[in-house]
Amino acid sequence: MSKTDQFKKVIAHAKEYGFVFPSSDIYDGLSAVYDYGQQGVLLKNNIRNYWWKSMVQLNENIVGLDAAIFMHPTTWKASGHVDAFNDPLIDNKDSKKRYRADVLIEDYIAKLEGKIEKEVTKAAKRFGDSFDREQFVSTNPRVVGYQEKASAISARMAKSLEAEDLADVKALIEELEIVCPFSGSKNWTDVKQFNLMFGTKLGASADHATDLYLRPETAQGIFVNFLNVQKSGRMKIPFGIAQTGKAFRNEIVARQFIFRMREFEQMEMQFFIPPGTQKEWYDHWKKTRLNWHLSLGMGEENYRFHNHEKLAHYADAACDIEFKFPFGFKELEGIHSRTDFDLGSHEKYAGKKLQYFDPERNESYTPYVLETSIGLDRMFLAVLSHSLQEEELEDGNSRTVLRLPAVLAPTQVAILPLVKKDGLPDIARDLVADLKWDYSTAYDEKDAVGRRYRRQDALGTPYCVTVDHQTLEDQTVTLRERDSMEQIRVATKELPQLLDAKLNLKNWLTNPKD
Ligand code: GAP
Repeated sequence: MSKTDQFKKVIAHAKEYGFVFPSSDIYDGLSAVYDYGQQGVLLKNNIRNYWWKSMVQLNENIVGLDAAIFMHPTTWKASGHVDAFNDPLIDNKDSKKRYRADVLIEDYIAKLEGKIEKEVTKAAKRFGDSFDREQFVSTNPRVVGYQEKASAISARMAKSLEAEDLADVKALIEELEIVCPFSGSKNWTDVKQFNLMFGTKLGASADHATDLYLRPETAQGIFVNFLNVQKSGRMKIPFGIAQTGKAFRNEIVARQFIFRMREFEQMEMQFFIPPGTQKEWYDHWKKTRLNWHLSLGMGEENYRFHNHEKLAHYADAACDIEFKFPFGFKELEGIHSRTDFDLGSHEKYAGKKLQYFDPERNESYTPYVLETSIGLDRMFLAVLSHSLQEEELEDGNSRTVLRLPAVLAPTQVAILPLVKKDGLPDIARDLVADLKWDYSTAYDEKDAVGRRYRRQDALGTPYCVTVDHQTLEDQTVTLRERDSMEQIRVATKELPQLLDAKLNLKNWLTNPKD
């Protein structure tokens, strides 16, 4: 199946099984805005919870916050978003389609990377077991050529964007003969900057309304509360403040389903540190965050770091954790060393000191900040797209299975009476009543049990418990595991213990997967 087909399947599955719907669907949707359905909201809550617990509950020096979406408008002047939160845009004069100039160039680089992967696959086939990937990519002239070209393009784009040399960004697009993906035309306008913040108004009368922005990131709510939290919580540096919440960006190239949305949710943590220690904490959080991803068991080979060549206005080092989405490796999470830019800037604009007295150094300073920032919707897409699989079975049939990490599954255990009679539904309902206090459960008695298993497979339910006639005799049930389809007979009284071993957070966050 091609990558595009695979991605289309993910989108169709998300709608069919109640994970994600287009917003205002009955009015044909709203571009790049989505609603989460009855399954999606559970998966999303579970991802948020997995992040929150690993960040806040498990770290005594990280606390939470829930700041408002509306903030004083000067916040966004101080943060640099009014002046610098722009995307370089280019229009195609023939198709009238608008693109992000940097994305057009990145897509070109991704094609070169695709060519490299093709060469590697061919050579791996040719050389068999003796194939050494590292040696091949560093010596094969064609691959080396592609790599050099990709690096040169990437470096030139970074330099031009850094210097705001938009004419050179356009020149690069022309030199690479990049065509409009829609019309195939090379007839481009100049590149222009476009601010991504949504404006709105606060106040009843038009004359006295204040211009506000919908926050484009949750981070600023943390910065402006730095002293409130530090003082009220008697926090000692280093410490972190974590927050999850909605952010809004008027994305021009809004595509790829919930990958790039106009209204989305972020899970951010700002870690306040002494100046001069940022390198050490940058390395620490890179490692910690990658381990968090790996704990979900979605394959080490599906993650990679990408260092930013063009740094945002606030950063002295930054990288992304990229994930292999159906459309290739793309940013999933950002790790940014933000220096004292934000706190320092708020000090200037607000005219108030945002300093910390460090008893160990015996001095006051404006703390530096290490940020980890991940999009909840993007994480949702990573989990959903990785998990959805079509599987050929030994009996010649196939099944659609959503191999979600069990700890994140919307329903953790489905309870199914084999038939709708002989008292089996009553026993099944009693089991639900018992297990639902600790696990998310579903009860289903419709259709043949095989069809019910398939439905739970497609919903990503890791365990099904079937109550049958033997249950009446010896109080045992069948426990079926989604991925292997293995069925074992267990005593009903052992279920809580068995499920706990498979689903408890500690096992997931502490045991290496794969
Ligand atoms: N506070 C830093 C910050 O906002 P960012 O790299 O712009 O940094 C962080 O965003 C994360 O938010 C990204 O890695 C991505 O997961 C998510 N994100 C950003 N824009 C998004 C969008 N339009 N739709 C969905 N997720 C988005």
